[in-house]
Amino acid sequence: MDKLKIFGCAKIAGVVTASGAKNSVLPIIAASLLCDGQVHISNVPHLDDVTVMITLLGRMGVDISIDSHLNLSINPNTLTESIAPYDLVKTMRASIVVLGPLLSRFKSARVSLPGGCAIGSRPVNLHIDGLKAMGADIDVKDGYIVATTNRLQGARIVFDVITVTGTENLMMAATLASGTTILENAAREPEVVDLSNFINKMGGNVSGAGTDTITIKGVDKLHGANYCVLPDRIETGTFLVAAAVNQGSVTVKNTDPTLLDAVLSKLNQAGAIIKTGKNWISLNMPKPPQAVDIHTAPYPAFPTDMQAQFVVLNAVSSGVGTVTETIFENRFMHISELQRMGADIKIEGNTVIITGQKQLKAAPVLATDLRASASLVIAGLQATGTTVIDRIYHIDRGYERIEEKFGKLGAKIQRVH
Ligand code: EPU
Repeated sequence: MDKLKIFGCAKIAGVVTASGAKNSVLPIIAASLLCDGQVHISNVPHLDDVTVMITLLGRMGVDISIDSHLNLSINPNTLTESIAPYDLVKTMRASIVVLGPLLSRFKSARVSLPGGCAIGSRPVNLHIDGLKAMGADIDVKDGYIVATTNRLQGARIVFDVITVTGTENLMMAATLASGTTILENAAREPEVVDLSNFINKMGGNVSGAGTDTITIKGVDKLHGANYCVLPDRIETGTFLVAAAVNQGSVTVKNTDPTLLDAVLSKLNQAGAIIKTGKNWISLNMPKPPQAVDIHTAPYPAFPTDMQAQFVVLNAVSSGVGTVTETIFENRFMHISELQRMGADIKIEGNTVIITGQKQLKAAPVLATDLRASASLVIAGLQATGTTVIDRIYHIDRGYERIEEKFGKLGAKIQRVH
């Protein structure tokens, strides 16, 4: 199993390019199942999760290929079976986003129920209830969601909890349903908007994405389209925090500052000097960060996917900061690893209280989930000594060539096989 060896006290400075967004490209690949033609997708990040999604569609018989520039071509008309098997879904729970499009286009789907994961129990009841409200027959048998329909019917669905992939699944399902579907209390994340833009580019009729009410007028068919995936706001934020923690400077290119308002505002409060252009953000951190208080919540509030990185920022700050996690019940697995690196952190329920100090110290640590792993990389870059991070397959799921990108910013990170 690969490990990352991180040489500490790094000086982070330079320019890095953001990749396409993981959480956009996964539902976009799934939405291509809705199309009666050929889809071309560009700005696809080179991630293990993308490989799982490509494998999943390939197993269904979909004609899917990727070129050397990572442009994906997908023709779902060759599909032979609407099945998402356990061996793939267990490696990537986002596979659940094939349920809506399979059922809507091919009228049946057998998708393994994703279990919990390191950050929480993560049920999919709202995906299932929404599809039932649209007239699907659904049973859960032998760990699989078995769904059939003659044709889904438009419905008004009010989510009790804001769910990103739940909103996406039902938006895709409604695209080829008969009649109009209204999703209330929908997720407003930029990745939901990206998905709706892609569906509309294929001839769908979705309006209101980015607000909490999304209206989808069902159409009979979608046609082929070319689409370029949105930049990854969480990868962008991770580079910015790494520079802030290490009192460095960074410019992230090919990104979109308008997607990171809450994150930029906290970095600003921590003392970073931030400049933005249409598709770039630069950050300069002249002195150690000041502690900030963070409260995660659905977009446009502060993202849970940036929580772990800000715990590290507070751990090397001047002052005491709190971080409250409201989305997932168990997203503090990085805390005990950071404590092993000398961070002063106390957990009280869903809040951590972090007392900043000058320097972390290297230690062998375990990556427990994707964003927790990113926080350990940032901590390792700041610490004195050499940090070794084990189980880095979590990082490869969602960060493209992380050691190479940080290497260009002056960090010394080695992958050890
Ligand atoms: N929830 C339910 N029932 C459901 C669905 C969700 O109770 O049917 C609850 C969850 O348990 C959680 C809350 O609703 O407490 C929000 O979960 P959500 O469904 O929004 O999460 P998700 O769609 O599974 C996506 C991202 C996550 C990101 C969250 C929150 C993708 C592929 N994943 O997950 O990304 O943290 O939204 O913004 O889009 C990551 O990239 O590291 C990552 C975990």
